[in-house]
Amino acid sequence: MKKNIASIGLILIIISTPLLARSNDVDNQAIIEDRIKPIGQVHLLQNPQPALITPALTPLSAKPAETKTTASTNVNEVYTKYCSVCHATGIANAPKFRDPSLWKPRMTQGINVLLEHVTNGFNAMPPKGTCSTCTPEELKAAIEYMEPK
Ligand code: HEC
Repeated sequence: MKKNIASIGLILIIISTPLLARSNDVDNQAIIEDRIKPIGQVHLLQNPQPALITPALTPLSAKPAETKTTASTNVNEVYTKYCSVCHATGIANAPKFRDPSLWKPRMTQGINVLLEHVTNGFNAMPPKGTCSTCTPEELKAAIEYMEPK
């Protein structure tokens, strides 16, 4: 009886060994391939990874389109950037910002004359008040902005 059990055990071992060995081979194969695989991976541009290339392209494509500003939206900016240099404090007798006694006599000339003086320059007042890119509408808005309310 003991001998039979030993024989059966031996037979089982003999039968199962190739099966076990094969399954070990598969495991080993995967382990070995994993061990010897290259350290880095190459990403070809033909198959780009959006997350990798998008940041580099964004600054170029995100450049905002040049927009023409309107007088109503940037009158404060025009005044601050160009006119205030002289008109905030009254340099060279420039009529001070919204000072009634200095502006009233000039306003009697009418907006068209004031605009012409600003456009072409007037005594110490430089042409276009140094805002060479300003449109007539922007200059007119800047004049009206500086007049007393
Ligand atoms: C470099 C200084 C300077 C800058 C900058 C300047 N002005 Fe003047 N501006 C003057 C002076 C000085 C006068 C007074 C000229 C005079 O009456 O002899 C004047 C006068 C004027 C007058 C009255 C003109 C008249 O017929 O009485 C207007 C309107 C005016 N400026 C508008 C502007 C506007 C709008 C800007 C900005 C876009 C501007 N100025 C920028 C110096 C300046």
